Amino acid sequence: MSEILTYSNNRKSGVKVFVADNYEDLSVKAAAVMADVIKADPKCILGLATGTSPIGLYNELIRMNQENAISFADVKTYNLDEYYPLAAENDQSYRYFMNEHLFNHVNINIANTHVLNGLAEDWQKECTDYDLEIEKAGGIDIQLLGIGNNGHIGFNEPGRDFIRGTHRVELTESTITANSRLFNSIDEVPRAALTMGVGNIMAAKKVLLIANGPKKAQAIKDTLEGEITPYCQASLLQLHPDVTFVIDKEAAALLTEYKPL
Ligand code: F6R
Repeated sequence: MSEILTYSNNRKSGVKVFVADNYEDLSVKAAAVMADVIKADPKCILGLATGTSPIGLYNELIRMNQENAISFADVKTYNLDEYYPLAAENDQSYRYFMNEHLFNHVNINIANTHVLNGLAEDWQKECTDYDLEIEKAGGIDIQLLGIGNNGHIGFNEPGRDFIRGTHRVELTESTITANSRLFNSIDEVPRAALTMGVGNIMAAKKVLLIANGPKKAQAIKDTLEGEITPYCQASLLQLHPDVTFVIDKEAAALLTEYKPL
């Protein structure tokens, strides 16, 4: 694997892009970036994502934890988003996903793991409290992100605005369709979600975005080489001072800067 892009102009000077040979390579490299943060500060605060992209990375972190290379004993986590309305116990909830794919397998104190409450009666208060809690905890040290086929990060969907803080969002048809693969039928996919805003993401000290497969290629091109626009929410990351992309060859395929050997 090689670091291929430096994007050395001012706007993108904080952006590093690694192209991995395959999904396993991507997962190992991305896990190493997270593990370095945990090793440097065992009390760090991780911003976490769900979805299919981070499963390999989480498996790597579990392996490292089981081999005592990293400890989650004092780590705190805040997840990006949760469906609304949906109970934490529902096997499609992001809380359930996190327990299954990471928390149940590492030495983390479950009380230190935070996922938005998808059944909060007062969703506005739930969102405000989440932002305050993250701030009180000292802010996110590294925010892990996947990316939607439409360039969304968290559930910040393409639209007219960038939204700063945690908020409620109505999901677009394209996201409902993309996510229906994980539900029994498309009718079971919740129509809304609570999500951190792009302001929360931009406030993280470091950002790590992972993407694999051909369906992500256009979103990755728009994110890295397009104009900064809310119609591609991830494009705002061009302005982040410390963001690492770990993507596979298929996701990199449309980048002008990517010249396969
Ligand atoms: C998940 C999240 C979403 C996903 C994105 C990619 O917490 O916030 O933005 O990261 O939809 O999903 P996958 O990885 O399933 O392709």
